[in-house]
Amino acid sequence: MRIDVLTLFPDVIDAWSRVGVVGRAVERGLLQVRGWNPRDFATDNYRRVDDRPFGGGPGMVMLIEPLGACLDAAQADSNAPGHVVYLSPQGAPLTQARAKQLAALPRLVLVCGRYEGVDERFVAERADEELSIGDYVLSGGELAAAVLVDVLGRLQEGALNDADSASQDSFEDGLLDCPHYTRSETRGTQGVPEVLLSGDHAAIRRWRRQQSLGRTWLRRPDLLAGRELGKDDRKLLEAFQADWRARQVGPDPG
Ligand code: ADE
Repeated sequence: MRIDVLTLFPDVIDAWSRVGVVGRAVERGLLQVRGWNPRDFATDNYRRVDDRPFGGGPGMVMLIEPLGACLDAAQADSNAPGHVVYLSPQGAPLTQARAKQLAALPRLVLVCGRYEGVDERFVAERADEELSIGDYVLSGGELAAAVLVDVLGRLQEGALNDADSASQDSFEDGLLDCPHYTRSETRGTQGVPEVLLSGDHAAIRRWRRQQSLGRTWLRRPDLLAGRELGKDDRKLLEAFQADWRARQVGPDPG
């Protein structure tokens, strides 16, 4: 997959594409990331990329021309035109489900805004999609683009060393992840659920599934809301709930 990122700070994206799982995906040739700076496409003497908003008010707005020329150059750099994503708090929420669809595309172009955002005509005419990484306001789209590059990079086949670790992640099937434990020099197996030490792999799988369901119910009941659980899952969750209720005096998540 190739991801082109339009940003006034390409260093942020470059740095991100060199470390960890994303860095490895790049090294393995599974992912290509390239930054493009709209300032390089500004035509006036000051290399301006922003101006005051029509109608007045605080802040500056990114100009349509440098961004447009920058996007033209990025798109012309490859035969396959990229799907253009503008990152902003007004976008649709990024979910693992949407990320999986985007990860299957050959090419994406991410557009990062700065200041108060970009001229709406650019968004309307050139962006295929507007995405937000959460209900808070960043000072620019770069961190959001880095998040997307990370999420998509680790979804590329061959990016993760243990293929299983992606499918057991939180949200991979709409549930939170189960708790994990490992060797501790100072604590031994103290506090580690017995079943994980039993060697009974079917029981371990069941326990993990039950913890995923239970944690989702406790922490993110919204994820279970419009969802029909299968018979086995329902039983696992009911047992978790009964056990949890037996140990609680406080409010119930419902
Ligand atoms: N730019 C500023 N805030 C953002 C957010 N929450 N998501 C995506 N892009 C942004």
